[in-house]
Formats: sequence, structure tokens, C-alpha cells
Amino acid sequence: MTAVISSLKARKILDSRGNPTIEVVVGVRDARGEVCYGRAAAPSGASKGKLEVVDFPAGGVDKALEKVGEIAPRLSGIDASDQARVDEMLHELDGTPNLSVLGGNTTVAISLAVAKAAALAKQMPLYRYLGGSGDLTLPYPLGNVIGGGKHAGGYAPDIQEYLVVPVGARRASDAVFTNAQVHRKLGQMFSEANPSFTRGKSDEGAWSPNICNEGALEFLAEACEKVSAETGVEVRPALDVAASSLYDAERKVYAYKREAVTRDPGEQLEFILDLIERFKLFYVEDPLHEEDFEGFAELTRKVGKDCFICGDDIFVTNVSRIRMGIRSKAANAIIIKPNQIGTLTDTFKAVELARRNKYMPVISHRSGETTDETIAHLAVAWRCPMIKTGVVGGERIAKLNELIRIEEDLGDRARMSGLR
Ligand code: PGA
Ligand code: ZN
Repeated sequence: MTAVISSLKARKILDSRGNPTIEVVVGVRDARGEVCYGRAAAPSGASKGKLEVVDFPAGGVDKALEKVGEIAPRLSGIDASDQARVDEMLHELDGTPNLSVLGGNTTVAISLAVAKAAALAKQMPLYRYLGGSGDLTLPYPLGNVIGGGKHAGGYAPDIQEYLVVPVGARRASDAVFTNAQVHRKLGQMFSEANPSFTRGKSDEGAWSPNICNEGALEFLAEACEKVSAETGVEVRPALDVAASSLYDAERKVYAYKREAVTRDPGEQLEFILDLIERFKLFYVEDPLHEEDFEGFAELTRKVGKDCFICGDDIFVTNVSRIRMGIRSKAANAIIIKPNQIGTLTDTFKAVELARRNKYMPVISHRSGETTDETIAHLAVAWRCPMIKTGVVGGERIAKLNELIRIEEDLGDRARMSGLR
């Protein structure tokens, strides 16, 4: 064995909302007998899918730290380069289907830290260690520029995320800066339109103005046009509706506070179709609530040729949910969040199943993040066409700047992924 786990330690650190989360450091002894340390931290969601694994055990992060102390001896001596075995052990040590004993955030941080330490032991960057020696591709960054819903407050829109995709970018670094330019442009536009705009931001660093749902889309579309013209890089608008957050299951309606309107499921579907057409949306995530496979399928059937219909809360990075989606032809894209499912191996299985069935995998951050940069490596290693990781703010640029470094590292071999 050339990468043997020799230590496992966890600590409580801050996330971007100021909440506690877990960071894990794994020591791995390499072929020369030297110890390499891999470190990873778990993020947390605000608009979580109902069927995600449990993030922390009862007792929170402190309990999770205790649990890591208990299981550390069991992982010691295991081959860190056998990721499937490590992740299987984490499932065995937990013993529940939803990882409620250790917590999915605990297991994901261990799982990622093991991979990072094993990569170091083999003297490879993580993207190469996981991606193999063949050609790899860089993802297009899908960036949040206006935030509402559960990521903002007060009079912000009900729709959770107004996003941009720099579809015309030839390089990841240009793509990253193009998104930043849209963000800056929108800040100026909001300030000009309303002198009382405080430049307040949502949890993910997107602007959160006092504006109605469709008004925000008008600003978004205009900013995309302006930045496309200024840079020569085509930028397209997109949305994450996070519709489960709007859905009232008892009344069976989507409740929009801003306009004080409710929409029944049929009206919601028509509303989304209208937005896609009117604003030429490139991508819409969670347009309907997390149990509405039929509605998703209808949308995909009607507009899936021109627009990515992406499932987040409906699939929760879980292969059985993805299989349900495939059977019903529910979507053509899927959000991939490692901490929704709890290990690197399970995350990879979700990506592979999705890809085999022509669902575009979109690797994603969470609204509560740390400066952990791992998802940038996953996106490249797994040749994901897009990465969703915000536009500004330290915990968002940690991933974006890592993409820039990876692109530089790939040198002449750097290629953008195809957007399909
Ligand atoms: P989160 O939401 O707050 O659960 O991270 C992000 C998203 O819905 O994509
Ligand atoms: Zn989402």
C-alpha cells in the first residue's frame, strides 16, 4: 500500500453564515514513509431537499467531533487510495441509510479529506488523481448575481437565485471574470435605479435588492446583454427557483410574497414556461417542488431542447431519486452536492448515472460555504459541463480561483467542456 491512513482529526470551524461546521484533517503515509495531510470542510444548505442525508447527528457539530474521535482508530491502517472501501466503511460505521449517526457532513468531510491526502501521497493534484491521465475539461461557472428566497430577506424576490452562464467563454478564467462583470454591472444598475439601494447581499454574495420577481429578471437580462456586448463573451440568464421553498403542500399552491399571488401547479408551470420564453433562459433549476416528477417531465418535454431543466431538491444527488427521474424523463440536468449524499463515491455514482442518461451534471456549492476548494477539482476530474459556485465573496472565489489555477496547470491541454 502506498497511501495508508495514519491519523484522522476533526475540528469545529466557521462557515460563511457564521455557523459552526466541521473540518477534517486526514494523515496518510506515502510510499517513502512520509505523512501527507488532506483537509476538507463541509458546507450547509438553507433550502435543503427533504431527502438529503442528515447533516449532523443530534447534538450538532460537537457531537460529530466526538464521533470522529470514536471512529478514527477504525479507519487507521486502511488504504486511502481505495476510496470505495473507505466510503463503504463510513456507511458501515454509521449504520443508517441517511447517515444520521455520524452525519453526512462528517462523512463527506472525511471522505474528501481522504481523497485529498491520497492525492498528495501520490504527488498529484486532486483533479488528476480522481480524473485519470486522459483529457479533462474545465466547467462553465454558473454564477448567482441576484439573491432572494431563503438566501435573503425582507423585500428581496421570492425566486432564490438569478444566475448567469458565460456560454461564449473560451477559457475558464475569462468565464469567471465575465460573471464578476455582470455582478458589478447589476450593482451599478440597482444603485442608479434606486438611490436607497444599500448594496446588500444574500447568503451567496448575490445582490439582494427590494425588487419584484420579474423586475429582477428584467435587470438580469439587461445586464447580460450589456456585458455580452462589452466583452464579446455571450452571457445568458438562468434561474434557481428553489420552488419547494415556495410550495404550500396543504393548499397545493406556490405562494409568492412579493406580488402576493399564489399559483396552482398548472399555473406555476405556465409561469415558468413564460419566463423561459420571454427571457431566453439558458437553465432553470427546481422550477417545481421536489415531488412533482410529472410537472418536471412536462416542462422538459416542452422546452428541454432549448433550456436545461435542472433538478436539485428533487434528486438530492441520490441514485434512486435519479433513477425515478430517468424513468419519468423529468429533467435534462442535475445538481450534484457531495454533502447531500455524504461520500465521494456516492457523489461519483450520481454523476455517472446522470451522465449515462444524458443529464448534465452540475457540481455545486451550498449557500453556507467554507473556503474549501474541493468542488473545483471534482468538476474538472469528472468533466462536468458546469460548476455552480457563486461569483464573489471569499468562500465563492476559493473555488473560482482554484479553477483558474487548474486551467493554468493544464496548460496547452486546457479545454472548456461542451455545454451538453
Ligand atoms: P442551499 O441551496 O441553501 O440548500 O445550499 C442552494 C440551492 O438550492 O441550489
Ligand atoms: Zn438549488
